[in-house]
Amino acid sequence: MEPERKVAELIAKSENGFVALTGAGISAESGIPTFRGENGLWKKYKPEELATFQAFVSNPRLVWEWYSWRLERVLKATPNKAHKVIAELERRGYVKAVITQNVDDLHERAGSRNVVHLHGRIDEARCLGCGKIERLSEPPSNLPPKCGCGEIMRPNVVWFGEPLRQEDMDYAVRLCMRHDVLVIGTSSVVYPAASLPYYSKEMGKIVVEINPESTPLSPIADITIRKKAGLAFERIATILKEEGFL
Ligand code: APR
Repeated sequence: MEPERKVAELIAKSENGFVALTGAGISAESGIPTFRGENGLWKKYKPEELATFQAFVSNPRLVWEWYSWRLERVLKATPNKAHKVIAELERRGYVKAVITQNVDDLHERAGSRNVVHLHGRIDEARCLGCGKIERLSEPPSNLPPKCGCGEIMRPNVVWFGEPLRQEDMDYAVRLCMRHDVLVIGTSSVVYPAASLPYYSKEMGKIVVEINPESTPLSPIADITIRKKAGLAFERIATILKEEGFL
């Protein structure tokens, strides 16, 4: 049986429903570069020069120029089939939440409601002084942007070496302990996010991996779909519709 049919059946029959754990690969078909693929961002830029607090303190303008460039790409991008099917599965009760490592808002723009951004959001800026968070509908005109309190603001994302928000990680762990998990478009090498599917496994839940390449998670996945997310979810949705579940 083709893996998409197996996954469609699991989605339809899941006792508690699934959660989706997503990474940069789910946004690749929307034109947003991943980090570790052949055209990945970390092939062109050094993370320690752009995605650490030290880099920001030493050159806030440079770091904001890079995030502004990425934000412009996100704002121009549109959700792809994978984002849309996951949102539809949430509307129908098959998916209970999306836990994403992505800082784009494509899940939300596709209609997903319960989304946990483990690594923050590129369309938000946070004040280093008062902690105020502002939504960015376009890149800031002045770099670095200033808060009303007079302090400079940083991108509201989690940089290398920084802790995730504890409440986000606690919620994500609880979700993975309770639900089967679809792991989509992540290299599964960055912790603590990469640890989440192991909580599902520990609790006897089903782990599905959707990724054209194998990852360190592959050996413990119950089912893998070695395809791009858009294609895989197109097929899964077709099967669920044929069987009357969508
Ligand atoms: N569909 C599904 N998966 C895809 C697709 C696609 N169309 N294209 C690429 N992939 C897969 C790649 O095979 C790879 O395994 O997506 C994964 C992308 O891996 P990374 O670039 O490492 O992205 P991610 O796993 O999200 O990185 C985790 O690292 O740099 C930090 O904070 C950053 O959130 C990011 C974290």
